[in-house]
Amino acid sequence: MGWNKTDMANEVCFRTLELDRPWLLEQYRSRGGYETLTRVLKEKVDPAEIVEELKASGLRGRGGAGFPTGLKWSFISRNAPGQKYIVCNSDEGEPGTFKDRDILRYNPHAVIEGMVIAGYAVGATAGYNYIRGEFWEPYERFEGALKEAREAGFLGKNILGSGADFELHTHLGAGAYICGEETGLLESLEGKKGQPRFKPPFPAHFGLYGRPTIINNTETLASVPDILRNGGAWFRDIGVENSGGPKLFSVSGNVNKPGNYEIPMGTPFAKLLEMAGGMKDGRPLKAVIPGGSSAPVIPGDMMMDLTMDYDCIARAGSMLGSGAVILIDDRHCMVRVLERMAYFYYEESCGQCTPCREGTGWMYRVIHRIETGEGRQEDLDLLDDVAARIQGRTICALGDAAAMPVAGMLKHYRDEFQYHIDHRKCLVGSGS
Ligand SMILES: Cc1cc2nc3c(=O)[nH]c(=O)nc-3n(C[C@H](O)[C@H](O)[C@H](O)COP(=O)(O)O)c2cc1C
Repeated sequence: MGWNKTDMANEVCFRTLELDRPWLLEQYRSRGGYETLTRVLKEKVDPAEIVEELKASGLRGRGGAGFPTGLKWSFISRNAPGQKYIVCNSDEGEPGTFKDRDILRYNPHAVIEGMVIAGYAVGATAGYNYIRGEFWEPYERFEGALKEAREAGFLGKNILGSGADFELHTHLGAGAYICGEETGLLESLEGKKGQPRFKPPFPAHFGLYGRPTIINNTETLASVPDILRNGGAWFRDIGVENSGGPKLFSVSGNVNKPGNYEIPMGTPFAKLLEMAGGMKDGRPLKAVIPGGSSAPVIPGDMMMDLTMDYDCIARAGSMLGSGAVILIDDRHCMVRVLERMAYFYYEESCGQCTPCREGTGWMYRVIHRIETGEGRQEDLDLLDDVAARIQGRTICALGDAAAMPVAGMLKHYRDEFQYHIDHRKCLVGSGS
């Protein structure tokens, strides 16, 4: 909160925030928290106006796909009869991503306020926050905030005497990557095995318990109160064309100051690297995975010319995804990096679709044998082929997420894979 356009970047120093206990209701209110909700309810703001403001803000979903939030909300007809739901996706399973847990830890009331406003906008009176199973501390903080919000009258029946109702519950998952996929999440929330559903119908029409549901990422929902308070244009102007607002980037890997950094969309990557204290031990930047492990790798020198927004990263052949930026220095072997990632997708495939169930294991085994010096010349084409046969052939995007990094690595670092096959050892030496 309190984003100032003249601040070129907000480094999120959560350790110093710890002292102020910003997660408490009192602190949130001292920063203007719940003012937006109060105004919306007291003035009975037209729900359509809220959706229009979100559209004007250029806010795109922060969970990975970057779908325009206002447009998503417009898919639900507020006056349609029956129960509707708001679901917050706090599963945060994408490797490299660690922003949502910190939002729950340090700014839980912004998520609650965003969800109640979402409920008002689309006519939903109940919501769930699906939190990843391992996030015990964020879960407790969020539960504490829920209790405070209920006691203060921001949740429950007849909120602030407005006649509007909204009840919000927390659900702790069990740490499965697939349960971050929105329809897998809904299945899990219903108490079933977390396997994705065919789409369409999309959740806005057939969501939780078959009812119209808006499902958004934690950061997306936490952005809503500030957007409505300051106006859509304010948010849009912080970012660049087609990528509104500031965004949290989780920076990890071989940097001096890994952490969450909130910067305007369109900030040069070089600036983000500088904020993160530069490369560890002054090593050269070899490669960057710019949007979580599913995003194809970009060579370091190419990355230095890019800006952190959806379009620029897409033009470079990758994606901004969840905003998890993984930096890799020259001491690391890309075959080993890919082997680790491939194992993750093999482990996390839910097994529902044959191309993903069989293909992720197949890719892992081939990469593993290249890494361990058992690779064959035909393996490189085989990898390309298996990846291409997974992509676009599964119910959800986990298959794409597993295939895209393989294609990216082979495109940019084929020589390292070839060296492993020719010499039965690593070109780089240390492994990762
Ligand atoms: C395998 C897989 C895992 C996902 N994991 C997450 C996750 O942990 N958190 C998240 O917000 N979105 C995740 N997504 C994206 C969601 O399906 C969905 O697009 C998102 O929750 C929508 O919210 P948004 O529009 O605010 O981004 C995942 C998608 C896939 C295919």
